[in-house]
Amino acid sequence: MTQRTILITGASGEIGHGLISRLSGTPGVRLIAMDLRDVPESIQGKVESAHQGDICDRAFVEHVMSLHRVNEVMHLAALLSTSAERAPEQAHEVNVQGTFNLMRTAAEQAQAYGDPIRFVFPSTIAIYGVEPREKDTIPPVREFQALRPITMYGANKLYCEALGRYYGRYYRSLTRGDRRPPLDFRCLRLPGIISAETVPVGGTSDYVPEMIHAAARGEPCTCFVRAETSLPWMMMPECVDAILQLAEAPVLSRCVYNVASFSATAGTFADAVRRHFPGAEIRFEPNEGRQSLVDTWPADVDCVRAREDWGFTTRWTLDEAMTEYIVPAVRARYGSTTPPEGAAS
Ligand SMILES: NC(=O)c1ccc[n+]([C@@H]2O[C@H](COP(=O)([O-])OP(=O)(O)OC[C@H]3O[C@@H](n4cnc5c(N)ncnc54)[C@H](O)[C@@H]3O)[C@@H](O)[C@H]2O)c1
Repeated sequence: MTQRTILITGASGEIGHGLISRLSGTPGVRLIAMDLRDVPESIQGKVESAHQGDICDRAFVEHVMSLHRVNEVMHLAALLSTSAERAPEQAHEVNVQGTFNLMRTAAEQAQAYGDPIRFVFPSTIAIYGVEPREKDTIPPVREFQALRPITMYGANKLYCEALGRYYGRYYRSLTRGDRRPPLDFRCLRLPGIISAETVPVGGTSDYVPEMIHAAARGEPCTCFVRAETSLPWMMMPECVDAILQLAEAPVLSRCVYNVASFSATAGTFADAVRRHFPGAEIRFEPNEGRQSLVDTWPADVDCVRAREDWGFTTRWTLDEAMTEYIVPAVRARYGSTTPPEGAAS
């Protein structure tokens, strides 16, 4: 069996938790975790080695990668959209320079070992910039359309997609001869992700997970966008499925793919949450700044390429996700006493 030694950056974050929990114990897989924050004990127990440090520190990145002879990178570490908009210069350092450090180090090691390193990169719907007045009427956006991000985060991610394509396809094209490019770069443009296990911080799609977790804790929630605001979504288990499906797919003809499960408005989610948690207090108080960012993100994305090229599939509609994933998991987490939908009948 081929040994996979996977470096997961941003391991202490939301997707890091989901990914490591799923991959841990897989035969032939060694997991190496990296994060600026302390890697929690629950995660440390699931990985071979955990390293606390900054991806902007190139010496640190080189040290960790060479120590473990990594042959796959899942690069999750980033400053998310709202955090990035509050500290754009720092976001550029982390999201661009940090990503460059990882790609460059991976490329050098791939050349030294004579084998390309697979590099999986979660990008985002924030790389799109649709006209707000057309957002709800245009067809689901395809990968090559509306590439006009208005945020530092979106600009950073779009550039890093291009950097990954360069290392994966065109690296040193004038002098490389017939040697393969050093990275096998694969990228998913993720929609808003909803996890029942973790609460997000610093994203601009956090309003849906915030209303779910608040309702399960019996706390009121203020939604920072208008009720009619629509975005594409995906549940955390589906996000982990998609990352792994893409990482494990055979040779691909493209490197960037949209993925999403369904599109829904904030109001639709609020109604679904109220059905399952009848006492839920959800108020809509749009924050103009955050609203203006979401207004440029597409209401829906076209995932045909991902379905055709590597068999991307999803598990749930919104209602199924509430019933089969979110509600049981948040009740288990918070021990909510609110009766489930239809429990009285
Ligand atoms: N969660 C979503 O809805 C969503 C949507 C689209 C794309 N993404 C992308 O998926 C990836 C993971 O997202 P997430 O939701 O797990 O984010 P998160 O904020 O929960 O986790 C990010 C992790 O990166 C770490 N980090 C930040 N700066 C670092 C640095 N300089 N060095 C090392 N580690 C650093 C943080 O400590 C954090 O643990 C990100 O690249 C994000 O852009 C997420």
